[in-house]
Amino acid sequence: MKKALITGITGQDGAYLSRLLLEKGYEVHGIVRRVALEDPEHRLWRIKDILGKLNLHSGSLESYASLFDVVEKVKPDECYHLGAQSFVSYSFEDEFSTINTNINGTHYILSALKNKAPKCKFYFAASSEQFGQVKEVPQKETTPFHPRSPYGISKVAGFDLTRNYREAYDLFACNGILFNHESPMRGYEFVTRKISRGVAKIKSGLSKELRLGNLDAKRDWGFAGDFIEAMYMMLQQDKPDDYVIATGETHTVKEFAELAFSHAGLNWKEHVKTDETLFRPAEVHELRGDFTKARKKLGWKPKVAFEELVKMMVDEDLKRVGSG
Ligand code: NAP
Ligand code: GDD
Repeated sequence: MKKALITGITGQDGAYLSRLLLEKGYEVHGIVRRVALEDPEHRLWRIKDILGKLNLHSGSLESYASLFDVVEKVKPDECYHLGAQSFVSYSFEDEFSTINTNINGTHYILSALKNKAPKCKFYFAASSEQFGQVKEVPQKETTPFHPRSPYGISKVAGFDLTRNYREAYDLFACNGILFNHESPMRGYEFVTRKISRGVAKIKSGLSKELRLGNLDAKRDWGFAGDFIEAMYMMLQQDKPDDYVIATGETHTVKEFAELAFSHAGLNWKEHVKTDETLFRPAEVHELRGDFTKARKKLGWKPKVAFEELVKMMVDEDLKRVGSG
């Protein structure tokens, strides 16, 4: 039985990926923060129904020793490094901890694998945020990076560390440059879930307005359930490589809101208020990915389209607040 180790198993992608790997017959191990084990009801909600099938180990991305111990104990065949401070906006408020967790965490796990499981295949959760002030549209693997946030900078460093471990130590290390991917399991602070949850609360009378920042930002939004399949596919290839994973379509935040509100029979203009305090010090204005390489080499393509994704998220939140 193959063993997979997932950092960030409690997050959106970790929750989808662990289900996929269990279905494929893997022994799935995950690294979680100790506090999560003490408060499973809240902190493990995304993996609550599969807890009995998982092997959880406490550890932190800030501690080399804790990661080293887990790698030594598990000796995984595949490692998916998804753990990170992933909220771009927060990375401006706390640059230092974001940079520390995201860069050192990636470096520690790579080093532990090199020392204790050098045959392990490694996936790094790189990001379209690395393109930042984009040099071309659409963005592909060869597009130069120009990150616009501490988060983006940390992901460029993680990308380079991953590439360098591949080149210098022959580690089977891949970068998945994933564009925004969403789902009903998305964290509440990201704009898509903030909107779908906001719509559900307004529909059920729990709230009247939704405050948002920059409505003109454009994102290439896909479905997390599709995107995690690409992570798995990258590690099944003969050679390690880097891939852009995207839908190739871009929409504004305004379009997302318009569709989400209208799906619930509401007019977004009556409820959405622009709040200047939610604008970022430096914005990434337009992301659109070209996933040709992934299509040709991995045979991957997205299945869920934009409209279906928005409706899925709104429907799920309507059910959760009890008005669906
Ligand atoms: P997420 O829901 O925010 O999950 C992040 C995970 O990292 C959580 O399990 C979190 O644990 C863990 N984590 C954070 N700090 C940690 C620390 N110091 N020690 C141990 N674990 C820590 O993110 P996601 O959407 O699943 O994304 C997965 C990865 O892909 C992230 O690296 C993200 O940056 C990257 N990415 C995401 C997207 C996207 O659109 N979703 C696109 C490109 C790249 P807790 O539950 O304990 O907080
Ligand atoms: N979060 C948030 N909240 N974003 C808002 C809001 C708001 O109230 N109003 C407008 N936005 C705009 C942001 O300014 C940004 O341009 C866009 O909505 C998307 O913001 P997020 O959903 O927070 O995602 P992100 O694009 O910054 O980052 C996500 O995608 C990256 C890949 O491109 C995260 O998942 C990152 O971890 C990931 O790497």
